[in-house]
Amino acid sequence: MDRIIVTGGGALKGEIPIAGAKNACLALMPATLLSEEPLTLTNAPRLSDIKTMTELLTSLGAEASSLQDGQVLAMSSHDINNHIADYDIVRKMRASNLVLGPMLARLGHAVVSLPGGCAIGARPMDLHIHGLEALGAEIELRDGYLHARAPKGLKGAVFEMNFASVGATENIVMAATLAKGTTVLKNAAREPEIVDLVACLRKMGAHIDGEGTSEITIEGVDRLHGATHPVVTDRIELGTYMLAPAIAGGEVECIGGRVDLVRAFVEKLDAAGISVEETARGLKVSRRGGRLSAVDVTTAPFPGFPTDLQAQMMAMLCTADGVSVLEERIFENRFMHAPELTRMGADIDVQGGTATVTGVKKLKGAPVMATDLRASVSLILAGLAAQGETVVNRVYHLDRGYEQLVRKLKGVGANIERVSDT
Ligand code: EPZ
Repeated sequence: MDRIIVTGGGALKGEIPIAGAKNACLALMPATLLSEEPLTLTNAPRLSDIKTMTELLTSLGAEASSLQDGQVLAMSSHDINNHIADYDIVRKMRASNLVLGPMLARLGHAVVSLPGGCAIGARPMDLHIHGLEALGAEIELRDGYLHARAPKGLKGAVFEMNFASVGATENIVMAATLAKGTTVLKNAAREPEIVDLVACLRKMGAHIDGEGTSEITIEGVDRLHGATHPVVTDRIELGTYMLAPAIAGGEVECIGGRVDLVRAFVEKLDAAGISVEETARGLKVSRRGGRLSAVDVTTAPFPGFPTDLQAQMMAMLCTADGVSVLEERIFENRFMHAPELTRMGADIDVQGGTATVTGVKKLKGAPVMATDLRASVSLILAGLAAQGETVVNRVYHLDRGYEQLVRKLKGVGANIERVSDT
């Protein structure tokens, strides 16, 4: 298993290119199942999760190939000859459940394994199921698989979610594009990845309004055609790298960064003493003065503070001046980075969904363990300014969501290496 060694050092300087969004791409790829014609995605990120989704789509009979060193995904699902999304693939990546809505809409049936829980929470699918049932699907849970059928096709309906679930919004919107009649999805998720998915579906001929608001209306059509679509910038990779100069000092320009994707996050950086400047090519980030100030953070659905940046923000707050309170309101177990940061000398008290961080002057490098994608990268960030060497194990988590992380951080002067134990 590979590990990453970060040696705390001086200020960072230079630029980091931001890739296409993992969480947009993982919703855009299953959209190929909605049409017999080819769907091509450009600006695709080169990540292991994208490879897993490619594996899943080809297991269903779609053609999916990555070109231009993985930045272009050419897909076509003319002949779907299997409608079972197997547990072995789904358990590796929850987003596999996003083939449910498209398969149901296109084929009238689908068998998708329940993903099961993961490190950060139980992650049920009740909203996906109830939403698709509102469209007329019959869904039964048997042997750990969802057996979904829509023998008479899907019918438009009004459905209100009790929580603005990202994945459920994506599954329901994709299914509704081919339903008969109008669907109104209330309390829909507003994430930029939803806006990007709808932009692509519209290019494919879907009739959708309201994306980015909490009410999305979809007029079903008989069929969708092919399209080519660029994946939107990854706001979570962007926020992650914006924290590198915030923690280590110096100045870094994140190429492709857009402030509208990270507004709530930037407000917190500003309150902590970090300056973010919009440039012609992206966002330039640097510290305004000396020690950073403590800030309180509560995660919420977009446009609130993203849960996927909570761990990374905590890494920065460990050495801020004062006490910061972080409330994790999206997932039930997303503070697993806290005990690892404590091994580096951080002062963090976790009580349920609340973590209280009392800033210390400096962290000390230590061997630490990664537990999930965002926890892993928060340990790398903490290591950038810690005294001595931090060794992050189980870095396969990182490969799921951060392409060329070592190269990007080395490019701005970080002392970071990836070593393989094999
Ligand atoms: C997406 O997951 C992202 N993944 C997650 O990013 C992100 O953390 C999450 O949205 C929240 O922003 C992808 O887009 C592939 P949800 P998703 O449905 O769709 C509960 C990363 O690090 N819920 O909005 O699974 C659920 O348990 C990953 O890139 C139900 O109760 O998130 C959770 O507590 C991690 N019933 C909350 O809602 C449901 O039917 C948020 O889930 C669905 C969800």
